[in-house]
Amino acid sequence: MITVHDKAALRSWISLCRQQGQRIGLAPTMGNLHAGHLRLLEKLRPHCDRIVCSIFVNPTQFAAHEDFGSYPRTLEADQIKLEQAGCDLVFAPSANVMYNGHTDQLTRVVVRNMENLLCGASRPGHFQGVATVVSKLFNLVQPDVACFGEKDFQQLSLLRQMTLDLDFPITIVSCPTEREADGLAMSSRNQYLSPEERQRAPMLYRTLQQMRDAILQGNRDYRMLETAATGLLDKSGFVTDYFSIADANTLQPAESTTSDLLVAVAARLGSTRLIDNLTLCNKKA
Ligand code: PAJ
Repeated sequence: MITVHDKAALRSWISLCRQQGQRIGLAPTMGNLHAGHLRLLEKLRPHCDRIVCSIFVNPTQFAAHEDFGSYPRTLEADQIKLEQAGCDLVFAPSANVMYNGHTDQLTRVVVRNMENLLCGASRPGHFQGVATVVSKLFNLVQPDVACFGEKDFQQLSLLRQMTLDLDFPITIVSCPTEREADGLAMSSRNQYLSPEERQRAPMLYRTLQQMRDAILQGNRDYRMLETAATGLLDKSGFVTDYFSIADANTLQPAESTTSDLLVAVAARLGSTRLIDNLTLCNKKA
């Protein structure tokens, strides 16, 4: 496995692979890798000959008050994990390299129908930052296939839309959410939790499961279920950003007739913002 920090070295490695007729898979990350990230590589493996993992804490997807400065940067440990997981190349550029010296670059990629919903409502500009950096990575790596996690369901949906709309010749593969034994979705941000917050955190997944069970038992009053779930979380010390039962295809609020459902939550525990979701099919028997 090799690590490159600049675009020219990346491009020449990619063109060598291409000359040999190899298929390339890409797993974009912000590093501080856990088992969920490594699962992306496993998902890519059957689709490609070479795996590229990018590690880049992208400044343009963080708002000024967010955790860009404190986001854990652990390149050496990440390299060891990636080597063991069978990664071929790590692309770890600086912000200066990635943005050619201008993080306030003039060109932005906007996926208009999804960027202001759910997480986008409380993180204005976040998804423009994500779509822009992933477009750049797609252009730099030119992968045949790229993998994204279902934990960030809105990000996955938006990047699928972007890939379609901008005609990137890339297959998007999704990866199920990897969880801790107690159900908490793995996240680089879990390490911000105090021991006491960490004990309470699995309540997020339990609440999603409770709402899924209510839907499976026939409850179609989604707005009432959202309010009930928010109440449960607030009682457990969370500050709920949103608890939403949405159409899994459009991310708009679900109606009683919606068949593919996304049950998604974002909530703060202390200063840590956690997200999680479940999908379910609600076809009438
Ligand atoms: P990051 O949070 O590092 O996540 C990188 C990829 O890993 C994303 O596709 C994410 O959905 C996936 N992932 C994270 N936790 C997971 C889990 N518990 N199970 C399965 N997959 C998981 O998402 C980003 O970085 C950035 O926004 C990025 C796409 C790299 C653009 O900067």
